[in-house]
Amino acid sequence: MSSAASTLRSAVTGVGGYLPEQVVTNDELAALVDTSDAWIQERTGIRQRHKARDDQPTSDLAVEAARRALADAGRTVDEVDLIIVATTTPDMTFPAVASIVQRKLGCPVGIAFDVQAVCSGFVYALSVADGFVARDHARCALVIGADEMTRLMDWTDRTTCVLFGDGAGAVLLEPRPGQGTKTDQGLLGFALRCDGTRTELLYVDGGPATTGTIGHLRMAGNQVFRHAVVNISEGITAAAEAAGLTIPEIDWFVPHQANQRIIKGVGERLGLDESKVISTVALHANTSAASIPLALDAAIRDGRIKRGDLLMLEAMGGGLTWGACAIRL
Ligand code: UT7
Repeated sequence: MSSAASTLRSAVTGVGGYLPEQVVTNDELAALVDTSDAWIQERTGIRQRHKARDDQPTSDLAVEAARRALADAGRTVDEVDLIIVATTTPDMTFPAVASIVQRKLGCPVGIAFDVQAVCSGFVYALSVADGFVARDHARCALVIGADEMTRLMDWTDRTTCVLFGDGAGAVLLEPRPGQGTKTDQGLLGFALRCDGTRTELLYVDGGPATTGTIGHLRMAGNQVFRHAVVNISEGITAAAEAAGLTIPEIDWFVPHQANQRIIKGVGERLGLDESKVISTVALHANTSAASIPLALDAAIRDGRIKRGDLLMLEAMGGGLTWGACAIRL
């Protein structure tokens, strides 16, 4: 998929991130399950994760990230005409988190819905939003990745409960004229994939139409790991091709933050310069759909990523879904 034929591009005009206050260290988890700070750091790179308060639903994190993205873009809530939230952990089965965000922010009546592609959700949501913005059907679009994965944890399962955290990240997309070339500002090309034959490798063992419960996350970690490096590399290559780019042209890789070894493995497979890869997994752990916009926000705030830079976002998660997106900021 490429938006190269369009004269309009979906430009990222603002970025914001929000992490709940409470930090949970590896040592704290070692008091709950048979694990250690050394094991978690060596196998995943994770040092800590953030955890939402009991009275702080996913929509609250999304609203905070959205406010920051709007402020970054110099836009106000009354200008927002599209809200897409990528999430797997909605406040309720319905309404969509996006509807609640619209109400809490005080945005006018417009389009609002959720996208559920688990850890790939943010890349999927960007491509959906691009379908509105690059066709001039939306002029001020919030795309938010927000998840409270700690709600899905089985706190007796050491193979999963050490891996995830809570957070939200958002971008504001606005239409900008483009030439249909790689020099344009905005979303330049996507690759989206799902292999539904592998649902059993990563899933939640509950839901409204099966158990009637929320359920817990279950994962065959090392099998997911093996697919991750191959799939993500393929996704990046396909998205670069769709955007008319070569890998060495890309200034920054902003990966989904599941495991430092996956990030490293993809880097080695594609021959990426390690200094061009943004990693926040040590501090955020895996925040599912929030991980990419949170990493983007962190690298913009610390001055590494600058306007005009060419970015490659990539993710993989339950489904199995995966995908990548090339953006000129
Ligand atoms: O965002 C969605 C996508 N998700 C991912 O990308 C996650 C992909 N998978 C991974 O990141 C890694 O597979 C894990 C971090 C989940 C696991 O690392 P691994 O190197 O693949 O370990 P493993 O599953 O092969 O387990 C090795 C050993 C096992 O013990 P035995 O059977 O060798 O005795 C596990 O029981 O490590 C044990 N183990 C642990 N030990 C201490 C598993 N979890 C833990 C733990 N602490 N937390």
